[in-house]
Parts: sequence; C-alpha cells; structure tokens
Amino acid sequence: MSSALAGVDAFPVEVEVDIAGGLPRFTTVGLAEGAARESLDRVKAAIKNTGYDFPNRRLTVNLAPADTRKEGSAFDLPIALGLIAANNALKRDHLHRYLMLGELSLDGRVKSIKGGLPTALLARMRKFAGVVLPRDNAMEAAVAGDSIAIYGVESLQETVEFLEDLRQLTPVKADISQVFASANTYDLDFSEVRGQEQAKRALEVAAAGGHNVLMIGPPGSGKTMLAKRLPTILPEMTFEEAIETTKVHSVMGLLDGHAMIATRPFRAPHHTISDAGLIGGGSLPRPGEVSLAHHGVLFLDELPEFRKNVIEVLRQPLEDLKITISRVMGTLTFPASIMLVAAMNPCPCGFHGDATHECTCSPQMVQRYRSRISGPLLDRIDIHVDVPPVKYKELKEMRTAEPSVSIRQRVDQARKVQLERFAGKRMFCNAQMGARELAAYCQVNSAGERLLELAINRLGLSARVHPNPESRTHHCRSRRQRHNRSPSHRRDNTVQIAGSHGRVTIIGSPGQRLPISQRMPSSPTGAAGARRRLPTLAFIARRKIETRRQEIAVASHPGTRMMFTGIADWRGIALIISQSRSELTRRLTAAPFSSQLSS
Ligand SMILES: Nc1ncnc2c1ncn2[C@@H]1O[C@H](COP(=O)(O)OP(=O)(O)OP(=O)(O)O)[C@@H](O)[C@H]1O
Ligand SMILES: [Mg+2]
Repeated sequence: MSSALAGVDAFPVEVEVDIAGGLPRFTTVGLAEGAARESLDRVKAAIKNTGYDFPNRRLTVNLAPADTRKEGSAFDLPIALGLIAANNALKRDHLHRYLMLGELSLDGRVKSIKGGLPTALLARMRKFAGVVLPRDNAMEAAVAGDSIAIYGVESLQETVEFLEDLRQLTPVKADISQVFASANTYDLDFSEVRGQEQAKRALEVAAAGGHNVLMIGPPGSGKTMLAKRLPTILPEMTFEEAIETTKVHSVMGLLDGHAMIATRPFRAPHHTISDAGLIGGGSLPRPGEVSLAHHGVLFLDELPEFRKNVIEVLRQPLEDLKITISRVMGTLTFPASIMLVAAMNPCPCGFHGDATHECTCSPQMVQRYRSRISGPLLDRIDIHVDVPPVKYKELKEMRTAEPSVSIRQRVDQARKVQLERFAGKRMFCNAQMGARELAAYCQVNSAGERLLELAINRLGLSARVHPNPESRTHHCRSRRQRHNRSPSHRRDNTVQIAGSHGRVTIIGSPGQRLPISQRMPSSPTGAAGARRRLPTLAFIARRKIETRRQEIAVASHPGTRMMFTGIADWRGIALIISQSRSELTRRLTAAPFSSQLSS
C-alpha cells in the first residue's frame, strides 16, 4: 500500500503490479502524472543495481483508485517492492500492512519525498501496522505520535530485508517537548528597534488581537525591520497549531529533516509572486505562501508593487481563514489562518508628508499609487499605522528598548483573556469577532464615549460630511442614465467609501462639501455603489465608531493627510493616532484632543 496527496492530506493508494508475457513494455495506469509516470524507468535501474532480477516482459502498474490524479516520485519504492514480490523474491504478507513511500535513485538509494506527516496521520487513522518511508522524512512522520510505528529506510536492499524479517529496524520517535523547547528562540528582537514607540505599540496590539496591520512610512524608517520582529512577540504555538502548519510544510517538502514547525512561520514573498504562488494552485493544486504562513505572519513588503490581481485574491482567505480551490477533479481546501502584515511608502518617491525630505510626486501620482490597493482589501486590515523616520536623537540613544519577551508576556496575557471570553465558540482572538460579538463585548464606557464624541466633533465627521444631494437622485436613476453622466463629474476624485464594513475613508477637507468619487476600481459595486452609499455615510461613520472595531480616516485633499484609528483591544478601546502631517492635521490634533487620545 502507498499513499498520495490531495491538498494537505494523504489518501491511500493501492499499487498493483502485473507481469505478463509478450514483448517488454512498461505501462503505468491510474492517472499518474509527471514524476509518477516516469517511475518505472527509475525502478528498473534501482532493482538491477540492487542485485535483483528485473522481469523483461510486459509490465503494468496500476495506481488505485484509478480515477484520482497522482503525482510525485513516492511510488517508486512500492512499485519496486511489488515487482520484486511478483518475481517471488519477497514475501507478500507485509506489503499490505505498511504504507510505503520513497523515491528511488538509480543505484537503489531511497530519497526523500513530500508529505511524510500527512501520510503518517493517514496510517494512524486507517490503523496500518506502520509507515516505511525515507529516513530523511522519518522525523516529521514520527510527530504523528507513538501509536503508529515509523520506519526510516535508506535503500531498497534495506527495505527488502526489513520486510523479509531479516533486519530489525527501530521505529523512529520524535521528542516533541524537545522540539518545542528549542523553538521560540529568535535571532531578532524588538529591543534592536530604536524609537518607533507608536509603531511598536500598534504591533503589540495587533499581535494581541490577531489583527492585520498596514505600515506606511518613508524609506528606511524601519517598516521591514519592525515586521520581521513581529513573530517574536506572538504567542507560542500550540501543538495542534504546529501540526497544522507542519502538514503544509511537509506537503511542500520544506522541512529539511526537521520534525516540526514549532515556531510561528514568517513568510515574505517577493512582489513578483503570481496569484497561484500566493494562495496556491496548479493542475494538481499545491499550497501557496498564504498556507505556508498558516498560524504565522504573511508579510507583504512594498504592497503597491504587487500585481493588483495577486493581492486581490487575498480577500477571500483573509475572511474565511482557508482557501478553497476548485478543479474539475474536485475541491480542495488549504488552511490560511494568517496575520497579514503589509508595508508601503506613502507615495512613489516615498517622502510624502516627511518633514525632512521634499516629495517630488504630484497629487495624481500619490492618488494613483494608493489606489493600487483596493478598498475591500484595506477594509480587511484592521490597523493602519504611520511609521515616521526615526530621529537622530532616538537612534543614538544608548538606552535599550523593551525586549520582545516582555512584550510577549503582555500579548500572552491578552490572548488568555480572549480565550476565556470566547470559550466554547470557534474563535481564538479579537480579530475573529463578528458583529454579534462586537456588540456583546465592545461596550464603550462613558469616558470612551466622550472621547469618541470629541473625536467625531473635532474631525467634523458627523455634522459636516454632507451627503451630496445629487447622490440621492442618482440613486433613483436607471443604470443607463447613471452611465451617461458627464465625464467632468466622473473625474472628481474626492470621496471614497471603502468596503461595506470596517472602514470609512473620506478624502477631502472636513467640512467641505464633497463631490463624489467615481474611482473605486475594484469595489464590487464600483462607483455606483459608492454613490448609493454616500447618503448614509454620516450614519455609517457614527455606527462604525460606536462598534469601535473600525477606523476613520480623514484627509484634506490633496497634499495633507491625517488618520485616526480606533480599534477595540482587550482592555476596551485602544486608539492609535497617526503622525500629524500638515497644518490642518496639526490644528486638528492640537491639545486637548491629541493629549486625550494618547492618554
Ligand atoms: N528604528 C530603528 N532603529 C534601529 N535601526 C533602524 C530603525 N529604523 C531603521 N533602521 C535601520 O535602517 C535599515 C532600513 O530599515 P528598513 O529596511 O526596515 O526600512 P523600511 O522602512 O522597510 O524602508 P523601505 O521603505 O525602503 O523598504 C534597517 O536595516 C536598520 O538598520
Ligand atoms: Mg522595507
């Protein structure tokens, strides 16, 4: 018996070998693809070089179930054993009792395969006597537990002797506690980041609640540096989480002889990645970077540089925490419970809003740059944080900043509170809360209420953001009429309402009467949707603030920008207010407003 992979799970495959009279010919049936189809050529050389007879007759290999596609080189070993047994050089009694996998080299050595862990989990579930697989994969398979015997082999000869009871092999054991003890040590530490207290605090809150984060700042301000240190403050992995993540890495053959991934993964794909590379795909679908980052961090550095269709595919996994890929052959699901961390510059030259450098971009360039990231995607990123350049004074300061371990203690504490809060629900952190939980757990106290009220009034959101009367009439017009609106009106680019939940973005001076944007390129409802929703903007803004998982951004157009972010964390509400960037911003954030926010 052997097994093949479908997604991140293994299914049993029965390898049948037939030797018939006639001219020598090899056939492999049972939808073998790629390396599996070439198996017999490798097997022939391996059998001969191990010293057994190779039947030079008509050979047929069947991989059952015959209607499921199979890929990979792992059938070499079971096919070779089948042929040797068919030649009566091997007893057949054991062949059914073990799951066997391994790629053969021409001289008969057994080489590593993909998916050792899912195979062992399958063998455990189906109550096989054990798993015989390459020694390089034995450790990962042994993680499946002591209830299944894992035998690591190095050559075809050794395997035959083992099955003939001529050689004893000791089942491989994995020392899980040792693996976990040596995990969670990192080369990086938050204490190396000087200054940036606000960004660090934002990452801490994000880690505590499992929120996605977007960092915006000029080149060299330390965004990449901060993101790389995020795993050091995330809570330690649980055994179940580690198994799930290890399965994905096992299927991709990325374990390198290690037993387990017990450290939260940090995946930082380059921005030239394809959508299949990111979320998984291929004719026989394989997991992508998102699944490799399962229970860890997916870091998209230079977010606007990613191809638009590529980052758009993230929308579904960010919502569902899994990826479903449909093919004619059936549907596969890959795990994708990730924390998304993205970093970007505020404009193409990178210095927009930086006091020390002049920005050379035109407002249109800035707008175009930012519009590469769609509202619906931004909508799924709970925390947006400005990362300003570090001041020389902070850089040269000798005092070391707080180390990751102590930040992590607070994160652990916060997660503990959340786990208690969500006990009995299929929810593990704040970011997974739905509308019902928000209403139940995120009650604002009176002080918070006052703060929010002040914020709304100060930012002129509730009273001043008029719904444009025109929009109401558009709402009633037919689709055709809407389509025929004058081009000059269409070019107004001033209001964006992004997504249907979570975030309201208003670009325009507070208090200004706002024309309607027609540029919402990838919103499912497009400009028409934005127009339709505009009349309810003030209402949405107020409601969003009330439920407090949301963020409101206000900017004066063009050049100036200010962001006000409110998210609920475990103690109630945590407010992060971005760096002020202009006269307007300074005016708006003047005390007592800013002092209240930072208190
Ligand atoms: N706060 C800081 N403390 C210590 N070193 C810093 C800090 N910020 C930046 N650096 C130094 O500057 C280097 C560049 O930082 P980093 O690559 O993180 O910048 P970035 O914000 O990602 O820039 P870009 O937008 O160009 O990608 C870091 O490797 C680090 O040595
Ligand atoms: Mg960078």
